[in-house]
Amino acid sequence: MPGLAVNVDHVATLREARKINIPDPVTAAAMVELAGADGVVVHLREDRRHIQDRDVRLIRETITTKLILEMAASSEMIAIALEIKPNLVTLVPEKREELTTEGGLDLHLHKNVVSDAVQTLHKGGIPVSIFVDPDLDQIKLAHRIVANCVEIHTGTFCDAETPRKRSEAFEKIVNSVKLAQKLNLGVNAGHGLGYQTIKAFKGLSGIDEFSIGHSIIARAVFVGIDRAVSEMIALIKEL
Ligand code: PXP
Repeated sequence: MPGLAVNVDHVATLREARKINIPDPVTAAAMVELAGADGVVVHLREDRRHIQDRDVRLIRETITTKLILEMAASSEMIAIALEIKPNLVTLVPEKREELTTEGGLDLHLHKNVVSDAVQTLHKGGIPVSIFVDPDLDQIKLAHRIVANCVEIHTGTFCDAETPRKRSEAFEKIVNSVKLAQKLNLGVNAGHGLGYQTIKAFKGLSGIDEFSIGHSIIARAVFVGIDRAVSEMIALIKEL
């Protein structure tokens, strides 16, 4: 059964709306773990719009599962990762003007920078995943630069407006998972996944872990974190 890593950035977004100290993503991290999540994800952005350095440090110190740090392949972030030592770094593209990560890292364009980041992080003992679009060339490049795993971007599938576009997008995910597996890469998947879209993954083997944030935290506003996380885990169990 694939695992579930829960992204708690959206708790920090709510806190930053008031620039005070509640709700605390550190508390959310403990709660998602207690509800059965296999890991906690935070994206420390260059502009610190939600997660702050303090959150990453405290979550690192207090969780008992694993910390996945999403970050740009910048020298500032690499230095922070080397100090904090997350269990996994997921390298993502980052634009200041975007609302959320808008697509996978383009390894054709950024191969050298990403490859250098992977090597530096590996020297510090940190495994690296690369967030890529479901594109076979990108998966091959991730393998070539010796990433430990890929996280396949599921956003285009989740946002598809017609059944045809949705099934085309899903086919790309399936082919990407198969290739990544064949290349012995670990396979995570995420972005935009919710309580309905997750059901499409029934019968698709090869995904190690789903990385899900917004839909779980949005549901938690109404039903509580414990129930929101457990309901997602129950759906993943049925896949
Ligand atoms: N994976 C990556 C690389 C992301 O950037 C995000 C968003 O922070 C997610 C997964 C989770 O996406 P969502 O919040 O839409 O579930």
